[in-house]
Amino acid sequence: MSIVIAVDGPAASGKGTLAKKLAAHFGFHHLDTGALYRLVALGVVEAGADPADEPAALKAALAVDPARSGDPAIRTKDIGRIASQVSVYPTVRAALFDFQRSFSAREPGAVLDGRDIGTVICPEAAAKLFVDARPEVRAHRRWLELKDQGPSEVEILIDVKARDERDRSRAAAPLKPAPDAYLLDTSDLDIEPAFAAALEAVRPAIEEKLKALPKG
Ligand code: DC
Repeated sequence: MSIVIAVDGPAASGKGTLAKKLAAHFGFHHLDTGALYRLVALGVVEAGADPADEPAALKAALAVDPARSGDPAIRTKDIGRIASQVSVYPTVRAALFDFQRSFSAREPGAVLDGRDIGTVICPEAAAKLFVDARPEVRAHRRWLELKDQGPSEVEILIDVKARDERDRSRAAAPLKPAPDAYLLDTSDLDIEPAFAAALEAVRPAIEEKLKALPKG
C-alpha cells in the first residue's frame, strides 16, 4: 500500500515547492498535476483549437504525454490561463483521472500537488495540506518567475484573481480544502519555514504509516 500526501492550493501558493521537498524528504514520488492540465492546454494551442471547444480539449487530454511535463512551453502565463479554462470540463478531468490514480499507487509513496487531490483524486490520502497565500503575495512570486516574459505585476495579479475565481467556482472538482486538510498560509513564510511547518503537519501521519509497512 502506497502512502499518499495530497497538497492542494491556488496558483503560486508554494504548493509545488513544498510537495517536491516533502517527496524528497520521505523518498516518495512527486507529481505536479497542474502540469497535466497545462499539457492539455498546450495540445489545444498546438492543434489551433479554441479552449472553449470541449471536444478539442478532450482530444488533447486523451493525448497527454506526462513525459512532456518538463517542457518549458507549458510554463507561460497564457498556458496557465488556458489550463484553468480547459480544467472546468468534467470530460477532461475524467481523462486525466486514471494516470493520477496509478501514480498515487507508486511505492513506497507519492506526493501529488494540484487543486483536487485531497477531495477527488486521493480522498484517502494519509496526509493532506491546503497551501494558500494572499493574492498579492502569490502574484509577486509568479511575477518573479515570469518577469522575463514581460507581464507586469498588476497584470499577473489580475490573472491570479481570475484563475482563483474560475478554479474555485467551477462545478467539477472545485478548488477547496478537504475537510481533513491542514491549512497552511505561506504569505509571511520563506521556503524553509514553510517547509518546516508542512513537515510538522504531515509527519505524525506519515511516520505512523511508514512504521506499519512490512519490513524487508
Ligand atoms: O497548478 P497550476 O497553476 O500549474 O495549474 C494550472 C491549472 O490547471 C489551474 O488553474 C487549474 C488546473 N488544475 C486543476 O484543475 N486540477 C489540478 N489538480 C491541477 C490543476
